[in-house]
Amino acid sequence: MLLCPVCNAPLERVDNSYKCQSSHSFDISKEGYVNLLTSSKAGDKTGDNKDMAKNRRKVLSAGYYELLACGLVEKIKSLYTNGELLDICCGEGYYSAFAAEKLPGINVYGFDLSKEMIRLAAKRKSRAQFFVANMKKIPFADESFDVVLHLFAPFNSAEFARVLKKDGMLISVVSGERHLFGLKEVLYDNPYINDEAPPDAPDFVLSEKIKLCGKINIDSAEDILSLLKMTPYYYHTPSSGLERIEKYSSLETETEFVLFVYRKK
Ligand SMILES: C[S@@+](CC[C@H](N)C(=O)[O-])C[C@H]1O[C@@H](n2cnc3c(N)ncnc32)[C@H](O)[C@@H]1O
Ligand SMILES: [Zn+2]
Repeated sequence: MLLCPVCNAPLERVDNSYKCQSSHSFDISKEGYVNLLTSSKAGDKTGDNKDMAKNRRKVLSAGYYELLACGLVEKIKSLYTNGELLDICCGEGYYSAFAAEKLPGINVYGFDLSKEMIRLAAKRKSRAQFFVANMKKIPFADESFDVVLHLFAPFNSAEFARVLKKDGMLISVVSGERHLFGLKEVLYDNPYINDEAPPDAPDFVLSEKIKLCGKINIDSAEDILSLLKMTPYYYHTPSSGLERIEKYSSLETETEFVLFVYRKK
């Protein structure tokens, strides 16, 4: 299923690397992931940085977004007992590893542009396999996957449709209206609600919209700061808001997730 990012030919595993017929070769790292990016020119985007990866890892591993992980698994389980799943822009691998653990018949693959994210993902030591790759050119053959997950990341309709099987399912997740509203009330004088807009998906038909609503209690100042740093709010908050949040040692807030379930046109 894996394709060479240089010449698009299939990649075969040979000892500790993946090779194509033209001898392009990609080593399996000591952590177990494979870097399939070909370009490292200065100025190329490299995805989320080390600090963002560390904060995302801390917050997700603490279980604050378990509502979403369970919701995803329930939806997949209701339709599939086996097959192939791809987690696009998988970050540090929380949802991929969760799916690998809870869905034993399903082979799980995840990739992200950020090497820092994928290094952490591979360290989860789950059954899922991880790659550094760009969603603009996904290194998998056409119609490889039964289920494709896409959570809080850039969307690429044509490329996501290409790797999905004919009757496969894409689940794209965005933040619900009041997601983290309790946090935003501390940060901003006039907090706004999210618009819950679905992605622009011309290659898909929407088959279901599922909304998951919960409450979390973040029980340390350190976790509050990590949560803030894994969201875009950290970079758009006035210093007065950041000073206010630093005084909190616990915080209750809503979590809201919207799952758009798509079929291929
Ligand atoms: C907000 S994070 C979400 C990560 C993960 N889906 C989660 O929910 O934990 C967005 C991720 O998209 C990745 N990303 C951004 N542009 C990308 C691209 N062109 N190809 C692959 N990943 C990309 C970033 O590196 C980052 O890990
Ligand atoms: Zn090649």
